[in-house]
Amino acid sequence: MCGITGYIGKKEGLPIVFDNLRKLEYRGYDSAGVAFFNAVSSIKHQVLGPKVIKAVGKLDNLEKAIRGAKSQAATAAIAHTRWATHGIPNETNAHPHTDCKKEIFLVHNGIVENYRELKTDLTKHGHHFYSDTDTEVLAHLIEEFGPELALKKVVGAYALAVIFKKEPEKIFVARLGSPLVIGVGGGEYYVASDPTALAGLVKKVVYLKEGQRGWLSLSGMKIGPARPRLEPLEIDPEQSRRGNYKHFMMKEIAEGPEVLESAIRGRLSVRRNSVKLGGLESVTDQLKRIKRLEILACGTSYYASLIGKLLFEELADIPTEIAIASEYRYAKRPVSSQSAAIFVSQSGETADTLAALRKANNQGLLTLGIVNAVGSSIARETVAGVYNHAGPEIGVASTKAFISQLGVLSLMALHLSRQKLKLHKEIIKELRILPFKIESVIKNSGAIKTLAKKYLQYDNFLYLGRGYNYPAALEGALKIKEISYVHAEGYAGGEMKHGPIALIDKNFPTVALATQNRVYEKMISNLEEIKARSGPILAIATAGDKKMAKLADDVFYVPKTIEQLEPILNIVPLQLFAYYSGILRGYDVDKPRNLAKSVTVE
Ligand code: F6R
Repeated sequence: MCGITGYIGKKEGLPIVFDNLRKLEYRGYDSAGVAFFNAVSSIKHQVLGPKVIKAVGKLDNLEKAIRGAKSQAATAAIAHTRWATHGIPNETNAHPHTDCKKEIFLVHNGIVENYRELKTDLTKHGHHFYSDTDTEVLAHLIEEFGPELALKKVVGAYALAVIFKKEPEKIFVARLGSPLVIGVGGGEYYVASDPTALAGLVKKVVYLKEGQRGWLSLSGMKIGPARPRLEPLEIDPEQSRRGNYKHFMMKEIAEGPEVLESAIRGRLSVRRNSVKLGGLESVTDQLKRIKRLEILACGTSYYASLIGKLLFEELADIPTEIAIASEYRYAKRPVSSQSAAIFVSQSGETADTLAALRKANNQGLLTLGIVNAVGSSIARETVAGVYNHAGPEIGVASTKAFISQLGVLSLMALHLSRQKLKLHKEIIKELRILPFKIESVIKNSGAIKTLAKKYLQYDNFLYLGRGYNYPAALEGALKIKEISYVHAEGYAGGEMKHGPIALIDKNFPTVALATQNRVYEKMISNLEEIKARSGPILAIATAGDKKMAKLADDVFYVPKTIEQLEPILNIVPLQLFAYYSGILRGYDVDKPRNLAKSVTVE
């Protein structure tokens, strides 16, 4: 969602904050703006400004608008990409926002939940508002009370960077509920809502903690109430680039084999039939007493977690419940001291998952994370956890993170198992060779492109799967919805005759996950029913399956693997199918409409 950048140091700030904003483009936005001090008056030796420039739409528009503008070296600059929540995307509503006297300029991520009450009060005290945003209230509150007191009056979430006309060499920063990171190096401070923006610029960062706030200036950093902790920035700038790929989405699908390897590297021993997860060592004793698991997540991470539930129950014999984080956070549920709650999140910043985590922490549950973004809020607030190590995921639709999450969930299920089954050994062995099998599917992506062309005429799809492939069908349907804007419903095969079969006719194709496993024959029955009603069938099937060639209209073959790991392989053709369907329809697959990479508001 929205992105923040800021800079105070000896250099000229405007180009720096703009370049860093570019690195946050992937988060999704619909307008953008900058505020900077623009020149030194030779008469009074005063810095002029701050000057604000905003533009609606892509950053290219802002780039045009700032062309020719120069900011004064050694003064502060801030910038923002906005994703509209309160008020339409226009220049007035774009950040930075200012107060009545135009002396305070700020950029904000998050939400001011009590902005209506605050606005009413401030209006009574003579403040004039020009935008429809909740953010503008913050500028007027600071004008009225100063930053410290102003924030005490806010209910909601914020990551904030503020500059002041009277103090051009300072930035005020604050965090509550929305992430903010400070890059520190060589007397310079960079502000960003996402550490990706700082890759290659600094080696050390401070991830602001909840409630931390303070000042960055040429003479140093004053952050409180907790002392700021410098940490290494662990992002490889190379990884954030698109390489030779036309789209991040394709690059990230192609990284599937690599991310699975990174997820299992150093964590598996075929010889000892064991899994070692360093991130869980600190809670080894507590985990031994666990009788029940809960998994909380949103979107794609939730679908990965549905597969996680099946893995924990089958491989570790631990009853596992799963809930969508946005439901869990408001649900009344019995709490057991013998439960652990696992939070699965690529970004580690999803507002609903974070709120669910805080609820679980308050209830005294042992909380564990499966997180990709190192140093993110969920990673820091869980008691223990396992990183995905999948590298930054830039494409808005999650692809490689799903594969990595399934890898880590498999490892966790094996790790938590109290007995060693023959199946465990087979899974450990298969995880080692699975990256090569994913590779072979990706090499065959031309065939998926041909299929995407053939199915381009349809606007509705049924995605069908059973067992481990049911959540994979849900995820496949989500991908094509997000990327191609066509309607797709994921269903469990057994549920078909309880309703959706009414939809089947020659205009309603089914994408079937029908690989050879324990429920294969059941899937065949489903497909026969579809065939009998003239429904077109595109099947994902096991290499060599001749029966499927006769039954389905089109088949994409994947190598044979162990049933419990099938979704890792079967999701790849579905990701590619969504990718090509989007491209062929002429859509921006890296930034699908209305979506943001990291959903940091409720
Ligand atoms: C779908 C997608 C979203 C995310 C969801 C959770 O392609 O990307 O559904 O999976 O917003 O995000 P994280 O995993 O960052 O918590």
